Amino acid sequence: MSNMSSAAASVVKSALSGHAPRALSSRLSEAYRVVRDETERRAAPLSAEDQVVQSMPDASPAKWHRAHTTWFFEQFLLGPHRPGYQVFHPDYAYLFNSYYVSAGPRHTRAARGLLTRPGADDVTAYRRAVDEAMLALFAEADEATLHKLAPLVEVGLNHEQQHQELLLTDILHAFAQNPIPPAYDRVWRLPAADRSGDDWVDLPEGIHAIGHAGESFHFDNEKPAHRALVGPVKLARHLVTNAEWLEFMADGGYRTATLWLMDGFAAAERDGWEAPGHWRQGEDGAWRIMTLGGLQAIDPDAPVCHISYYEADAYARWRGKHLPTEMEWEVAARAGHLNDAFGLVWQWTRSSYSPYPGYRAIEGALGEYNGKFMVNQLVLRGSSCVTPADHSRLTYRNFFYPHHRWQFTGLRLADYDV
Ligand SMILES: [Fe+2]
Repeated sequence: MSNMSSAAASVVKSALSGHAPRALSSRLSEAYRVVRDETERRAAPLSAEDQVVQSMPDASPAKWHRAHTTWFFEQFLLGPHRPGYQVFHPDYAYLFNSYYVSAGPRHTRAARGLLTRPGADDVTAYRRAVDEAMLALFAEADEATLHKLAPLVEVGLNHEQQHQELLLTDILHAFAQNPIPPAYDRVWRLPAADRSGDDWVDLPEGIHAIGHAGESFHFDNEKPAHRALVGPVKLARHLVTNAEWLEFMADGGYRTATLWLMDGFAAAERDGWEAPGHWRQGEDGAWRIMTLGGLQAIDPDAPVCHISYYEADAYARWRGKHLPTEMEWEVAARAGHLNDAFGLVWQWTRSSYSPYPGYRAIEGALGEYNGKFMVNQLVLRGSSCVTPADHSRLTYRNFFYPHHRWQFTGLRLADYDV
């Protein structure tokens, strides 16, 4: 999957780079088409029924992802910048606005799965109409306008790539609730982990640059770049594996309250956690995992996946180790020390998702994109097997609540006994 999408993501980067030789109009059109097509490619194996289901309030239906990403272009590009543009349907802004208070009232998030209408075909028609209008905008706007709009288009495309990941994460969660267990793609496999190199990498004490510098695409939460004191610390070169996680389980890790944060143990008891998310125990006692390829045997060498921050934290304590901070992760990854920093599972850090020193949200409605979530969540670094390739960066800050575990989330350890 990541191979198929890598071409797409590279096109976005090169098409929107200021050094590309072709006219901005054709570069924008190409980048736009490539990203929009990738969403439809990911949704193509899903039936109309698959596209309606919302398996929990945090997950959204595939049809909603397809429509919401379309609304984003209508709301922030076509409405303000395409002269005479008429919205495709007067109700769609209400249905498909996610959380932009300044963009108007919106449908209840937890009730997205109740929207049997508009149907999947209606959403397809919506996407086509907005695509047509966007391509006309690129073709007809003058050069100065296109230069003004390019950063907004880039946000829209990166936003859509984030939803491409969510689309697969959410449909996997839905399929994981189904006893029959459906496969999204029978041949899907998690790419193999890189087990080469020493187990631990040393980060001596030092002051390091953290965050995004320069003007290439980034989200506002990656700035301002600043300096931070990091180390001394050792970071695990490798991701924690399923084999290691099975040891934690066999040692009663899920039942030993002293290993857990209080909120974490309460979540584990409330939700009956005794293994990572999407794991199922067969009548033979063996664990299997629901994947995009259907129910598969647990691969002992694969990184553990679908764990919450609470589980990651308890595991680290059980090992006598810690989770790294996001700064430690970034310094080690920048130096090339981390195997599988990208492309397998997001890695929990123990850093709260909070603003960097001097952070200001961008102006206007898009200022709601990141900044208003900067409390009570934890930062994850890297990227996962369903992140569109090249949608990842050393400075990328993903964030989820500590009980969340339906994303492709794993961990690596830190050790301060240096
Ligand atoms: Fe969104």
